[in-house]
Amino acid sequence: GSNVSVGLLGLGVVGSGVIKLIENHQEELAHQLGCGVNVKSVLVRDTEKTRDVQIDRTFLTTNPEDILNDPEIDIIVEVMGGVEESYHHILKAFSSKKHVVTANKDLVALHGPELQEAATKNQCDFYYEASVAGGIPILRGIAEGLSSDRIQQVMGIVNGTTNYILTKMNNEGMPYEDALKQAQDLGFAEADPTADVEGLDAARKMAILGRLAFSTDIALEEVEVNGIKDLDLEDLKYGDKLGYTMKLIGFANCKDKKVEVNVQPTFLAKSHPLADVKNEYNAVYVYGEAVGETMFYGPGAGSLPTATAVVSDIVAVIKNIRLGVNGRQSVAPRFKKQLKAPDQ
Ligand code: NAP
Ligand code: HSE
Repeated sequence: GSNVSVGLLGLGVVGSGVIKLIENHQEELAHQLGCGVNVKSVLVRDTEKTRDVQIDRTFLTTNPEDILNDPEIDIIVEVMGGVEESYHHILKAFSSKKHVVTANKDLVALHGPELQEAATKNQCDFYYEASVAGGIPILRGIAEGLSSDRIQQVMGIVNGTTNYILTKMNNEGMPYEDALKQAQDLGFAEADPTADVEGLDAARKMAILGRLAFSTDIALEEVEVNGIKDLDLEDLKYGDKLGYTMKLIGFANCKDKKVEVNVQPTFLAKSHPLADVKNEYNAVYVYGEAVGETMFYGPGAGSLPTATAVVSDIVAVIKNIRLGVNGRQSVAPRFKKQLKAPDQ
């Protein structure tokens, strides 16, 4: 078949990974799709910047309309971040019948259900596997792999930056600021790392996970959050001596339609499976009534791992195009949840 054209919004850590992956895995993609995937144009802020990916400058633009109004582009891949602009670009994409893949958890946590509705109304796909736990296929794991079960609990390490910082502080006694700087240099942190260290990034991911796991609507402000920025190296050392490791843990629970979601720094016994998850790695524990305990583990941030989730979403969209079944994701929550009172 003829190649499918993609418009990329953003060419940073994730965007350049997407370009590299599409380039290096052409054979695997063509084998599954019977066609090639062609990145036709890329939105950036600065077309002159030196980049760590080989791309002809003529593919770059600073005008989103060049991409959003291009009738040859079928799929928009949003990897620019931020909320306001990306929100408008994505709505515009749906109204032009373009499918959207995003890695943007800020956006999905705040406007996911509404964007999903716009997608479905326009018979478009909206996929965001990369928004939670980078390279781990956790959203599909929950939405497809465990679709027959009743999930009661999701718990885990869902922020790579804070896990990297805590690992360096715990294992090497590295000061917080140095560890944060390393996580930024390695491309794990958000453009503004406040959301990482204050636990908000993890809260966004837990809201997205909770919605999918329990099929209900969870608003971001319902997630109780505490971050790691005020943790003391001395406290971590005492914990270590007593056999405990500090981790930033996200927790989502659903019982009798009562839902509770929070993010807290937590001392785990060193024998706990989550205590062993190091650096930017993430792990998500999912407990389903029938399946029992499951664990999903892998790189939670970084260029190529995150790009695998993005490009796998592109593959899913193209398969749907072939079958003519785009825009079939369900939008209706299964039940109206009750919020658990904090003192219960
Ligand atoms: P990044 O390295 O800061 O890259 C952002 C890219 O978007 C840059 O190429 C930038 O252009 C472009 N951009 C940003 N705002 C723009 C605007 N207003 N107009 C035009 N171009 C704009 O960010 P990233 O780490 O790749 O993250 C991208 C998204 O993926 C975010 O939503 C992030 O939360 C999510 N994510 C990141 C990771 C990770 O490991 N980094 C993992 C999962 C999800 P210039 O290059 O010209 O400045
Ligand atoms: N800043 C995020 C993290 C990127 O450190 O987990 C992956 O979502």
